[in-house]
Amino acid sequence: MNLTELNRIATAMVAPGKGILAADESSGTIKKRFDAIGVESTEGNRRDYREMLFRSKEAMSQYISGVILYDETIWQDAKDGTPLVKLIEQSGAIPGIKVDEGTQPLPMCPGELVTVGLDKLAERLKKYYDRGARFAKWRAVIDIGSGIPSMTAISVNAHALARYAALCQAAQIVPIVEPEVLMDGDHDIDRCFEVTNRVLNETFQELRAQRVALEGMVLKPNMAVSGKKCAKQASVEEVAEKTIRLLKACVPAAVPGIAFLSGGQSDAEATAHLNAMHKLGPLPWGLTFSYGRALQAAPQKAWSGKAENVAAGQRAFSHRARMNGLASKGEWQS
Ligand code: 13P
Repeated sequence: MNLTELNRIATAMVAPGKGILAADESSGTIKKRFDAIGVESTEGNRRDYREMLFRSKEAMSQYISGVILYDETIWQDAKDGTPLVKLIEQSGAIPGIKVDEGTQPLPMCPGELVTVGLDKLAERLKKYYDRGARFAKWRAVIDIGSGIPSMTAISVNAHALARYAALCQAAQIVPIVEPEVLMDGDHDIDRCFEVTNRVLNETFQELRAQRVALEGMVLKPNMAVSGKKCAKQASVEEVAEKTIRLLKACVPAAVPGIAFLSGGQSDAEATAHLNAMHKLGPLPWGLTFSYGRALQAAPQKAWSGKAENVAAGQRAFSHRARMNGLASKGEWQS
């Protein structure tokens, strides 16, 4: 393992003014997004859509440091035959790959999930590296509800995240470690804070136990937010203050960067929250976005599957990327 190189990539992924485009929706998830805009989810349409994003010159060259791809996409070519991975590299961004294989019900723990995909992961990582991937992503899902999460769910998911991260580093790939505490539910921000605190502490304990080099990884956490159905929604300032307090307590300064998921926040909220956190600096790590929905909802709507809307889709994507790029420096103004 070349830790200097892993650290260089991880640092580039969270460079000030830039963040990560999470375009790694599984076939099921992208179908849901396409259904919402009345587009059939065929392999060709998925390719055309992602090609539109990766050819968005302004967004990709100025505000996007890396792109997380799904397995199908990393092997696809653009319409003119150029591999999509090459389009990303040519824009100056780093290609990455989602390597978990989704979730399964966790035995003995009703309503809870464990993320799977460790079998044969070493071999898959080697193929992805040869194709150009320099970082990877694994998402664990923790739900808040009555009597959950259990410590069992937190610890098996943290264990798998650390197994994955160690395998990535051995394959010279930077792991994005994503333990997502969902914002579904009616819990308040303090409950989200308390659960996320437990999840992050357990995750870092496992990472250390499995000898993962913290200097060669990126953390992708949720923010501390109110549950979507909570009657009392925390303000932007409260989200920023509690999230930074939480991360300072749980994330060692050796970690080069933190890149948030948007998790169902509106586009404007995701931008405002990140921006407000930078007002609380200086911070010990790079702090930016790794958004899926909060970067793609607008371009999906503008595009709506029509070739004549590609320029409008690219404009919408570049706008969201620019806003989040500004927020990653605390320079965004509402
Ligand atoms: P969202 O920003 O839509 O939550 O997606 C980010 C992601 O990669 C979730 O795994």
